[in-house]
Amino acid sequence: MNFARTPRVTVFPDAQTAARVVAARLASALQDNPQLVLGLATGRTPIPLYAELVRVSAARGLDWSRVTTFNLDEFVGVPPESPGSYRRFMEERLFRHVNLDPHRINFLNGTADPDDECRRYDRAIAAAGGIDVQILGIGTNGHIGFNEPGAGLEARTHRVRLRSETRRSNATLFGGEIDKVPSEALSMGMAAILQARTALLLAHGETKASCIERVVNGPLTTELPASFLQLHADADLILDAAAASRLTGAG
Ligand code: F6R
Repeated sequence: MNFARTPRVTVFPDAQTAARVVAARLASALQDNPQLVLGLATGRTPIPLYAELVRVSAARGLDWSRVTTFNLDEFVGVPPESPGSYRRFMEERLFRHVNLDPHRINFLNGTADPDDECRRYDRAIAAAGGIDVQILGIGTNGHIGFNEPGAGLEARTHRVRLRSETRRSNATLFGGEIDKVPSEALSMGMAAILQARTALLLAHGETKASCIERVVNGPLTTELPASFLQLHADADLILDAAAASRLTGAG
C-alpha cells in the first residue's frame, strides 16, 4: 500500500495555462475511453476550462456522443431553463458546443420533489458505474459541490442550506442581488465525489489560498469538506500561482 501524499499539487502561472493543460488531459481521457463518465462543476473557476474544452473538441474532432455527464449541484426552486440555473450555465459554456447526447446529460432538477430527485440522482450515478473524472471547484469556505462546512457531511445527494458567503459568491447569476440567490440547493454528496476514480480540483486566485493551504496541510475536518480529498487515491489540486501562494515548495 502506497501512502504517497495526496492530493497532488500542480501550480500553473495562471488560470488560462491550467485550463489548457486540464482540457488536454480530459481530451485524451475521452479519446482513450469514449464512454467516459464526467462529473462537472459550475462557477467562475471552470469557465476557462470549458472554453478550452470546446476549442480542443473542435480542433481534434472529439466525439462526445457516448460521454455521460453528472453535474454536482443545482439551486432549489430554479427551473432548468431559467437564466440563474446551473443547467443553463452548462448549456451555454459546454453542452451546446459539443455533440453530447442530451440523454446522457444528468442534472439535478431544482423544481422536482427534493427527496425523490436526490434518490434518483444517486441511482443514476450508480447505474452509470460511478464517475471516472470529477471536476471540482472550491468555495472560499472549503465546500466542494455544495457540501458546506458543518458538524457533519452527507454521503449521498441531498438538499442543503447555502451559507451566506456561498450565496454572495453566486449573486452574479441573479443580477448581482444576493437576496435573489436561492437559500437552498441540491448537491451530490461526499460519497460520489470521493468515489470518482479521478478528482481534479481547480482553484484560482488569492481568495482560495488559505483554504488550499488547509486542504494540503490541515487535518481532515467536516469544517473544510475539501480536506477529505486527502483520502482520495487519485486527486489533483490544479492551482494558479495566487491560489498556491500560501503553500511552500509547491510546483
Ligand atoms: C459549483 C460547485 C461549487 C463551486 C465553488 C467555487 O458547481 O460545485 O463548489 O465550485 O463554489 O465557485 P467559483 O468557481 O465561482 O469560485
